[in-house]
Amino acid sequence: MLATVSAPRRLEGEVRVPGDKSISHRALILNAVADGVARVRGLSPGADVLSTAGCLRALGVEVEGEVVVGRGLRGLRPPSGSLDCGNSGTTMRLLAGLLAAAPFEVTLVGDASLSRRPMDRVVEPLRAMGARAETDPLRVGGQVQLHGIDYALPVASAQVKSALLLAGLFAAGRTRLHQPAPTRDHTERMLAAMGAPVEVEDLAVSIRGPVGRLAPLDVTVPGDLSAAAFWLVAAALHPVACVRVPAVGVNPTRTALLEVLARIGVEVRRGEERLQGGEPVADLEVGTARQGRAFAVGGAEVAALIDELPVLAVAGAVLPGTTRITGAGELRVKESDRIRAMAVGLAAMGAQVRELPDGWEIRGPRRLQGARVDSFGDHRVAMALAVAGLLADGVTEIEGGECVAISYPGFWEALESLARPASSRRAGGGRRGPGRG
Ligand code: S3P
Repeated sequence: MLATVSAPRRLEGEVRVPGDKSISHRALILNAVADGVARVRGLSPGADVLSTAGCLRALGVEVEGEVVVGRGLRGLRPPSGSLDCGNSGTTMRLLAGLLAAAPFEVTLVGDASLSRRPMDRVVEPLRAMGARAETDPLRVGGQVQLHGIDYALPVASAQVKSALLLAGLFAAGRTRLHQPAPTRDHTERMLAAMGAPVEVEDLAVSIRGPVGRLAPLDVTVPGDLSAAAFWLVAAALHPVACVRVPAVGVNPTRTALLEVLARIGVEVRRGEERLQGGEPVADLEVGTARQGRAFAVGGAEVAALIDELPVLAVAGAVLPGTTRITGAGELRVKESDRIRAMAVGLAAMGAQVRELPDGWEIRGPRRLQGARVDSFGDHRVAMALAVAGLLADGVTEIEGGECVAISYPGFWEALESLARPASSRRAGGGRRGPGRG
């Protein structure tokens, strides 16, 4: 699908974002091995979370609408074939950890993009725990006796940390993981809420196994800040904008984006914070920033806003000054090589962007020009380039626009509703909005 976007006169309204993708995966996976029935409200409707649900069903778990019928930690059934994780790295890595101590062997496969992504980062520590595990294709299981390890993660990855915590549920003794930088902590929070002996000390997380049972946990999944990010950045940079996103997850391991926006000079108005399923949630609102400026991102904060970097690169292109985003080499092994994909897309739109091995250097301000650009089949690249299109002169055409469905199936409709608020539709508009060619 070719998605077309042009700059609206105003960008305004309220938009509800899908349920947080990371929390949705975990709510399904952990409840699948709990002892009893749980209800998960507000689950992400994205294709990645559907991949997790599909794999769990193949393992004998009943997942029907909001209801997950847990089979207990040792109740999963051998699947009849390999497990298809689609495009989802979280599905593949977390399930590899969960199934590492299964009495049967499982093969986990994915699409072309996922098949290229590094899996040795979970296989090596799983082997150190005594598991049978190999890559190409990823295969785990068949050796039930695991033991805890003390392991320093070479990369700051919540997926790897979570995979090893899940394996640690079955391992004898303590599994202690040291992170090089803080990463999202949804697994630790949820495991603790389900009664697992998890301990967190600065950058180290431990679990003591083997764990007998997990209590089922009803979860109301907060809105996904990584999806809201596109609207927050678009509203800050558009000349006439005000966008409100209700009930967004503001877990401190996820909100580095809001700190960067503050550095840029963007005021994000935050409504009162409340707890939803053990996770903090708030309504967020952003209007046109009066005086934005270039910014630097690097070091420990990178892991806490890794998924927001593509859209922050768009901000760098239009803000005055030189923006440097470094320390983000991990972007090269996401659903696409996001450093390259954004450099190519933004350059085609007239941005002055230099690709670095681990990020970008971007000189602004540039008035972006609509162009035909490629999503590289990567949902976050497609949505970041759509934000660029909302700020550009002329029409931007995004190839492969359907990939937004990986995390945000209603993205194009939401863009349409913000770009064509009811008031301007009544007035006739005459402007070209987003559409599908
Ligand atoms: C995720 C962790 C991050 C992130 C991904 C979701 C998770 O990946 O990019 O979209 O749910 O744990 P890494 O663990 O590879 O950093």
